[in-house]
Amino acid sequence: MEEPFIACDNLVKIYKIANLETVALQGLDLVVVPGELMGIVGPSGSGKSTLMNILGGLDRPSAGRVWVDGQDLLKMSNADLNRYRRSKVGFVWQQVSRNLVPYLTAQENVELPMTLAGSGGKKRQRVGELLEAVDLAERRHHRLAQMSGGEQQRVAIAVALANDPKLLLADEPTGEVDSATALAIYDTFKRLNREYGLTTLIVSHDPGIARHVNRVVAIQDGKMATETVRQSVANGEAEGELEEEEDIFHELVVLDSAGRLRVPKEYLEQFGIKGRVMLDLVEDGILISPVPESVQARASEHYVSEMVSEAEGQRWRGLRALALLRSAGERVTDLASRLRERKGRR
Ligand SMILES: Nc1ncnc2c1ncn2[C@@H]1O[C@H](COP(=O)(O)OP(=O)(O)O)[C@@H](O)[C@H]1O
Ligand SMILES: [Mg+2]
Repeated sequence: MEEPFIACDNLVKIYKIANLETVALQGLDLVVVPGELMGIVGPSGSGKSTLMNILGGLDRPSAGRVWVDGQDLLKMSNADLNRYRRSKVGFVWQQVSRNLVPYLTAQENVELPMTLAGSGGKKRQRVGELLEAVDLAERRHHRLAQMSGGEQQRVAIAVALANDPKLLLADEPTGEVDSATALAIYDTFKRLNREYGLTTLIVSHDPGIARHVNRVVAIQDGKMATETVRQSVANGEAEGELEEEEDIFHELVVLDSAGRLRVPKEYLEQFGIKGRVMLDLVEDGILISPVPESVQARASEHYVSEMVSEAEGQRWRGLRALALLRSAGERVTDLASRLRERKGRR
């Protein structure tokens, strides 16, 4: 496999405010290859922005490892991390106000980060090129108020590219625009990704993003849950007919480095699977099935008898064991009382 451009290994981020701890990332693994155009989806609060901030060098993880372009972000000093952020990363945020200065023109907005970074010389030419790349060359002298939301976001993309980053991070760039405008923004990302080979990560609320990127990962509770991969297949039927490409989407469940996977809730509900499962090797994979009643009862009985005898050893007469077991669910509680009755009769 190609050397990854981004590698996150077991990333953990815990925010502490007063006595309240929030686990924003809990063991997230992610590999992105150079030049990939990737979408990140997930419910609000699942850790998407936290991940973007860490990859962009705006924040540091609490535990785990993260490499970008061969650099270990955890080993960097604050000064190095600042330099990394300014020279390697471009950001596009959801709120236009965070990306752009409202009283400047499109051209001036793109020039600003170049001026701040002290890159003079070919500035003019590069600004023109970037505005061309986001398809706004004719609007270069317009102020933001004279542009639509979608145009403003495209200026923001040009601004993000001003210092020639290798990584473009966009956090819900289409969150405040309608779907037609979102389409134009996705098209811009696609074109830049193709033309500049820019590794691009786009966070979105919109599951439809899968149509515009190579791969979509879904974050849930601070870790990767599923991944959707797009595969284009030829669809030419009759002889001489123009070959058409059709997209097929494969939804994959992510297996983490510890071998854990999250099985979709609907699947579990359909088969009444909870607590324990049976794993069987079948011809071309592993079958997950509910535990048959007979096995379930026996497994619990073993567990219960161990608990009860241990409790008796401490002369708790099984009562504490029973209390403990109550939280383990009805079935086990029934068993425990049966056991107790049996012991009582003896
Ligand atoms: N600076 C912060 N301080 C405290 N908690 C935070 C901070 N940033 C995010 N969180 C919490 O971390 C969790 C993940 O947040 P975030 O990464 O913003 O999610 P998303 O972008 O997927 O909506 C949330 O529970 C959020 O409240
Ligand atoms: Mg967010």
